[in-house]
Amino acid sequence: MLVNLTDMFSQHGNYAIAAFNVFGYEDAVSVIRAAEEVNEPVILMVNRDAARHMPLDILGPILTTLAKQAKVPVDVHLDHSVDLESIAKAVDAGFTSVMFDGSQLSFEENVDKTLKTIALARPKNISVEAEIGSVAYSDPSIQAKMIYTEPEEALRFYQATQVDCLAVSVGTVHRMVVQEAKLQFDRLEKLKNTVEVPLVIHGSTGVPDADLTKLSRYGARKINIGTCLRMAFGRTLRKCMEENPEEFDRIKLFQEPMKAVQQAAKQKIQLLKY
Ligand code: G3H
Ligand code: ZN
Repeated sequence: MLVNLTDMFSQHGNYAIAAFNVFGYEDAVSVIRAAEEVNEPVILMVNRDAARHMPLDILGPILTTLAKQAKVPVDVHLDHSVDLESIAKAVDAGFTSVMFDGSQLSFEENVDKTLKTIALARPKNISVEAEIGSVAYSDPSIQAKMIYTEPEEALRFYQATQVDCLAVSVGTVHRMVVQEAKLQFDRLEKLKNTVEVPLVIHGSTGVPDADLTKLSRYGARKINIGTCLRMAFGRTLRKCMEENPEEFDRIKLFQEPMKAVQQAAKQKIQLLKY
């Protein structure tokens, strides 16, 4: 069933919900199958690369249709939007939550654009995520500083916006295969105790399994995972093509990569339940 993030949080236990970046039908359906296997809710996220590949007005209906047919709650989320135009497009395309990423803006500008996002989304029952502090990228072509989130600043931001959930920076870095930074669990716990809003962790692919469970236990309610599923799909596809050099039918070639995505997603979902 298709739900928004706010309802998903209120109906869910205290552990984190897995949010996966998806790029089309194949990985989206595999993620939903994984969630159904373990009977847990799941979040399908569309980032800028995905929206460039398949526009939001096409991808939105595909994902929301899959979500409506799912046996578990599924939220369809616009990830890391830095402009209000794409937020408006996602609102029109039926997404059930959106993220305005003002992490590279000043505090005031971040508040201002987050409020504008809320004005577009909330009348349509669409939940809003914002970010305070900044989660960096391992990819040098993406400019984002690493700024740990200060609990007092997070509280001021929440008081100014009343956003539905808040991404915070506690040491993760986007697109890492193995995380180099040391995660600050004490900071996460302090954030949880200071701000009464569901907290979101980005850049979780490189987080070791035990730490992923710990992030959930220390108060994260949504954990974003992207690169890991792209690796599962891409690496399995490469292996299948090497093993079947004469095969050209994509439906056949996609079978094993889809199973690999389902398996990887299932493993991450289970790790969040502590
Ligand atoms: O917003 C998306 C996530 O933060 C994905 O990060 O690719 O490092 O898992 P990741
Ligand atoms: Zn992210």
